[in-house]
Amino acid sequence: MPAATPLPESLCHLDGEYLPLRDAKVSVLDRGFIFGDGIYEVVPVYEGRLFCFDEHMARLERSLDELRIPNPHDRGGWRTIAERLIEASERSPSQSLYIQITRGVAIRDHAMPAGLIPTVFVMLNPLKPVADKARAEGVACVTAEEFRWQKAHIKSTSLLGAVLARQISVEAGAAETLMFRGELLSEASSSNVWVIRDGAVAGPVPDHRVLRGIRYGLLQRLCESRGIPFALRDITRGEVFAADELLISSATKEIVPVTRLDGRPIGKGVPGPIYQALYAAYQDAKQEPQP
Ligand code: PDD
Repeated sequence: MPAATPLPESLCHLDGEYLPLRDAKVSVLDRGFIFGDGIYEVVPVYEGRLFCFDEHMARLERSLDELRIPNPHDRGGWRTIAERLIEASERSPSQSLYIQITRGVAIRDHAMPAGLIPTVFVMLNPLKPVADKARAEGVACVTAEEFRWQKAHIKSTSLLGAVLARQISVEAGAAETLMFRGELLSEASSSNVWVIRDGAVAGPVPDHRVLRGIRYGLLQRLCESRGIPFALRDITRGEVFAADELLISSATKEIVPVTRLDGRPIGKGVPGPIYQALYAAYQDAKQEPQP
């Protein structure tokens, strides 16, 4: 069956080989395909330079450990693959590196078979910047009850919960779906969420309820460098709606101001001063030399 849109010819990496993306194929018995039994990472690349690479690698290692999948490469090996793809790419100012590792190929059986060779897939995509209008006016989001599982801290390729959650906002004409476990904020379908009140930034505790975004550490650092108080704690639904400012963050969005939630304005209904300060700091961080 033809794909909905023609697949790119850009180079990708599959199990040690470099080949055009549209020619890359994996077995139908790959446990990633059958069970979503794998993990992934999305690393921003600015002007050909990997951003926060070590932090992404550390999370990749944690996710693999949780699933008891051996890491097929050390950090140097991952970097070599990434740099080869960057080298071969049609450079755009912002790109995103996608890494996926699955448990490998086996006869279908839920139990984890021993001794499989993990499947490794890496591609590099152009990263579309967030629209100027969204930066100038903020975006609308909606809320939903959390219906995902109790291991949200694993960056797993089992993303059906995220797909269903995101679709709620698509159908509401909104940018993201913010989820609550009972009265407590967890995160959005593919972003973390930050609440700002009286000039202080707070995010949910990064335990099993949320994916600990690499922007957790980055925003903490940016806040500290700008003298903005930063805390990780439980955040109630009431606090979210009463926030002066609300932000979502991810590798692909950086930070984006949320100015309407379920149709209600947040704060003054426009991007606020803490967003502006952190966005400027974020742009500065992108220029810093990366290890
Ligand atoms: N998503 N929470 C969830 C559920 C996510 O999927 C993501 C990122 C984040 C933010 O993490 P980070 O700051 O490390 O990108 C939080 C990626 C971008 C994705 O699935 O494409």
